[in-house]
Amino acid sequence: MAKRTGMKKGLTSYGDEGFSLFLRKAFIKAMGYSDDALDRPIVGIANTYSGYNPCHRTAPEVAEAIKRGVMMAGGLPVDFPTISLHESFAWPTSMFYRNLMAMDTEEMLRALPMDAVVMIGGCDKTVPAQLMAAASANVPTLITVTGPMMTGDYKGERLGACTDCRRLWGLHRAGEIDADEIDEIGGRLMPTAGTCMVMGTASTMACMTEALGMMLPGGAAIPAVQADRLRHAEASGARAVEMAAEGLTPDKIMTPQAFANSLRVLLAIGGSTNGLVHMTAVAGRLGIEVDLEALDAMGRETPVLVDLKPSGAGYMEDLQKAGGLTTVLREMRDLLHLDALTCSGKTLGENMDGAPADWDQKVVRRRDNPVYEEGGIAVLRGNLCPGSAIIKQSGADPDLMTHTGRAVVFDSLEDMANRIDDPDLDVKADDVLVLRNAGPKGAPGMPESGYIPIPKKLAQQGVRDMVRISDARMSGTAFGSVVLHVCPEAAVGGPLALVRDGDRITLDVPNRRLELDVSEADLEKRRAEWTPPALDWAERGYPRLHMEHVQQADEGCDLDFLAKRPFTSKTPL
Ligand code: FES
Repeated sequence: MAKRTGMKKGLTSYGDEGFSLFLRKAFIKAMGYSDDALDRPIVGIANTYSGYNPCHRTAPEVAEAIKRGVMMAGGLPVDFPTISLHESFAWPTSMFYRNLMAMDTEEMLRALPMDAVVMIGGCDKTVPAQLMAAASANVPTLITVTGPMMTGDYKGERLGACTDCRRLWGLHRAGEIDADEIDEIGGRLMPTAGTCMVMGTASTMACMTEALGMMLPGGAAIPAVQADRLRHAEASGARAVEMAAEGLTPDKIMTPQAFANSLRVLLAIGGSTNGLVHMTAVAGRLGIEVDLEALDAMGRETPVLVDLKPSGAGYMEDLQKAGGLTTVLREMRDLLHLDALTCSGKTLGENMDGAPADWDQKVVRRRDNPVYEEGGIAVLRGNLCPGSAIIKQSGADPDLMTHTGRAVVFDSLEDMANRIDDPDLDVKADDVLVLRNAGPKGAPGMPESGYIPIPKKLAQQGVRDMVRISDARMSGTAFGSVVLHVCPEAAVGGPLALVRDGDRITLDVPNRRLELDVSEADLEKRRAEWTPPALDWAERGYPRLHMEHVQQADEGCDLDFLAKRPFTSKTPL
């Protein structure tokens, strides 16, 4: 049977296909379409505008530009809404809803008649959710993003969300900035529409998606308010019509080699640790395992090249002026799988060859003069993290990368909030702060709380960094000597649940170790006494689905029935 396309695709079941098509066309004519329009290839546009999502304020104009491109190429654009997630408007944390957005988007791709789709992502969890949906639905897909904000300024200092939000809030906690001033600064941190303009999770995911081949070249770094952003959207719309005709589905683009390219880029840009969790989930939808040993080996030979906050000094508009991601790819050309096919219809290498020539700039460093010698992320092993844990070295204090200290344990987010600023808290600058029950099930949703605040009494003494360990995540805009994603998490009985105040913990990043100095016999005794935390709030609906099925961080925190298992391949070096 010939493959059904356009309005004939995925007919609603009435037991009479002729009637189903007749009724569909009759209904959609109420939108004012002509028969000619309805006979064209249909390109869906996942429009993630939401009044609760300032990062997506420009989604409507991006959608208009995509529509223009689709129509110029002879297709019919049809936009549709999906769940839209913003970091600060999702209780208890946006990560809790990433899989829900992925399910919503995947099911719409399947339910609605479309021959290709362009998705408008942007804020942190949106792009991963869309990639996960694309991987599972396998409809020809292009991702575009709303793009980063421009920088703000305060008293002559350039400011960006949200690295400077955290830094300045830290100074407020330390008593160096008063309440009036921090309020004033709050009005200047987000001066335009768009996503956080440092190399946080949104920027990281945009760069990784371009490297993966699911975004047209040059799209990752264009600021939200620049005209090029709309030209890129228009080109994406036009290209989607071609992809529909070519049958260029995501499984042909998202190969193990393509994921390896995106992971290399994660390391070279000093990207957010969240990029690893998300791309692990996307790859897992295709039965591809992210090989953590290969990732760590990549990290040892891939320097951080991009001088952007939080690892460096600049902002996304600087990267765009320096040529965008292409400049980064060019500098690491020999480390990439150049023959990986991309959504442009060309390979990654061909895309790079077609880009404007290199010029002298300072944002993307040369390989012999990197921002940081090794890639941003190191994978840790040891008796405290039998699954794995990670640390972003490029944002950490080098002196703390080999450190032994006394554990100061917080049992939950609430416990931490209640005690962290207590003047009587028994804590010293060389202690190791431990936060547990903040993982995928424990918190729930693995919030970005791994950036444990420096206890106020230490902050006021000038302490700016300490070794911190948790089963939580950390915002891509944060920085510090922070060990994250400890697996298995405490709430399911991982060794983190057994740590007690005063235990000695050793972090040894050069040797990739994280060890709790307690004998196995003592740990066994503690395990026998351990009682799991009550997780009884998730009795119904999506919370119950999440609780019963969410995987650990080293598997991407996907729901187990959405991930494709067993793995059939691994990401190469
Ligand atoms: Fe949306 Fe930072 S809050 S990208």
